[in-house]
Amino acid sequence: MEPTGSDVKEVDPTPSAVPMISMQAVNKHFGSLHVLKDIDLEVDRGQVIVVLGPSGSGKSTLCRTINRLEPIDSGTIAIDGEILPSEGKKLAQLRSDVGMVFQSFNLFAHKTILQNVTLAPMKVRKKSKAEAREKAMELLERVGIANQADKYPAQLSGGQQQRVAIARSLAMNPKVMLFDEPTSALDPEMINEVLNVMTSLAADGMTMLVVTHEMGFARGAANRVVFMDGGAIVESAEPSQFFTNPQTDRAKDFLGKILHH
Ligand SMILES: Nc1ncnc2c1ncn2[C@@H]1O[C@H](COP(=O)(O)OP(=O)(O)OP(=O)(O)O)[C@@H](O)[C@H]1O
Ligand SMILES: [Mg+2]
Repeated sequence: MEPTGSDVKEVDPTPSAVPMISMQAVNKHFGSLHVLKDIDLEVDRGQVIVVLGPSGSGKSTLCRTINRLEPIDSGTIAIDGEILPSEGKKLAQLRSDVGMVFQSFNLFAHKTILQNVTLAPMKVRKKSKAEAREKAMELLERVGIANQADKYPAQLSGGQQQRVAIARSLAMNPKVMLFDEPTSALDPEMINEVLNVMTSLAADGMTMLVVTHEMGFARGAANRVVFMDGGAIVESAEPSQFFTNPQTDRAKDFLGKILHH
């Protein structure tokens, strides 16, 4: 018997052609401040983008719009081909596809490390306790702190807490990870342990957008550097290109300041 139309599985012929993150003509204001100006940004599956720019240029706001922590005024944002709705159940689903790690670790102080990591998978993904624990321990192992599982956040160093925050995000199986200055609050000796975790995530193929001043990470792990100034993307280039041959005076000025510190 010939298969009828409904028996034939639809196969997307070019799934990798859909960018994992796609922002088109995104604008946002805070009152009279035009904080994101016509942002166009595409991040392919598995790519790592480092976002650089002076203080107040809109880097955090950009991150926050990608999972709708901040609403936008116009334009579209799509994750894996799905346009982010402004509210509702679908938003919650898409938002959980986007993990976010901030400068401050934001762990639940009165829950153990293990509980911090199992909470959302149990509540939001309706995982059983056993299943959530198994996955959490695997992730804590991966970020190198499985032996701290029963401690509370305050008993851990900043670097360890940030690694818990990363494990907690990963526990939701996100398609994309956003990092907003994840090492800025850390003592120097703890920065590398967090960057190493991020580098290995990148090597495993995670799609990542990272706001950081860690130029070693940008040079070593990023596929592309995006430079923002005054709410706009003014340069987008491969790291080697951007660092050796920035095109705009604003980028040259910025690099001059941060590289000679
Ligand atoms: N909730 C808010 N209400 C009003 N203005 C805001 C708000 N959040 C940010 N801004 C303003 O928007 C601009 C961009 O802020 P944003 O935090 O995105 O910059 P940034 O590039 O992340 O800076 P930094 O490097 O200091 O973290 C700044 O002028 C900031 O003061
Ligand atoms: Mg910021």
